[in-house]
Amino acid sequence: MVERGRVVGVLMGGLSTEREISLATGQAVIAALRERGWYTIGIDVGRDLPDQLRANRIDVAWVALHGRFGEDGCVQGLLEMLGIPYTGSGVLASALAMDKIATKRHLQALPEITLARDAVVRVGQPLPDILPCVVKPAVGGSTIGIAKCTTADELEAAVAQALALDAQVLVEELILGDEITVAVVDGQAMPVVRILPESGFFDFEAKYTKGLTRYEVPAAIDSHTWERAQSAAVAAYEAIGCSGLARADFMVRNDGEPVFLEINTLPGMTATSLSPMAAGATGVSFPELVEKILHGAHVMSPEQGS
Ligand SMILES: Nc1ncnc2c1ncn2[C@@H]1O[C@H](COP(=O)(O)OP(=O)(O)O)[C@@H](O)[C@H]1O
Ligand SMILES: [Mg+2]
Repeated sequence: MVERGRVVGVLMGGLSTEREISLATGQAVIAALRERGWYTIGIDVGRDLPDQLRANRIDVAWVALHGRFGEDGCVQGLLEMLGIPYTGSGVLASALAMDKIATKRHLQALPEITLARDAVVRVGQPLPDILPCVVKPAVGGSTIGIAKCTTADELEAAVAQALALDAQVLVEELILGDEITVAVVDGQAMPVVRILPESGFFDFEAKYTKGLTRYEVPAAIDSHTWERAQSAAVAAYEAIGCSGLARADFMVRNDGEPVFLEINTLPGMTATSLSPMAAGATGVSFPELVEKILHGAHVMSPEQGS
């Protein structure tokens, strides 16, 4: 366990399209750690991160990055090499969870998890016959580059747009129904949260503009859906090999079955984000959750360090 008196570096910002969101997460985490009495330094992550880590002499890293280079195992690999314990998932789990195609292929045999029918498209390949559908770049987040399509023309345009962001694109059957999410902390499922976007689509705007989405916690859904969602979230967390906090997203099919979309290894962590909201429903405050995640910080193979 990380002891008080250690220097905590909060890694934030970064190089991805989710930089601004990460800065908000980082500021919230710093405020929470300071409130709990931790000596904390904010580190804005750039290409000079190795120099910054050496110069700041941190004892432990609270990783508050989202998206590429931060959530995908890259920063985790660097921290492993430097022997600095860090919060959250390790290299492999981060990399797997970052890629929606790799994640789905990894989870497809698990009885706890139901997946939407899909096809993968690369440049020059024919379009699949899945309509209506959702088109997503394999790697990404915050609904960037995601489009819903009902016609073949829309599908063609959406795939072209997504291929500009990624070499592989996931075309997934559209699931109409409630959207729910389940945070998992140290292997324990938190209460299910139902997401009710005004527009019907939980896109970038709905995610980050106050008042455009209503959140229901605990979700008023039937107990079968609740239990399936919690057990699917924990099964995904374990199969991917996550640590600390992760959050799985689902669409509830009209027969009540939650259809797994993705698992996020670095979900948003401002005081009003989904995971703190869910943990709050169990009586865990935001600063307590941030500190709990800090206590889980580790390196994969400390005994093999230099
Ligand atoms: N198969 C699907 N059917 C219906 N809606 C979907 C589907 N896949 C994604 N969505 C919608 O798009 C949003 C973003 O998709 P998601 O896979 O969670 O990627 P990310 O959050 O990384 O951008 C979801 O929150 C949901 O609103
Ligand atoms: Mg999502």
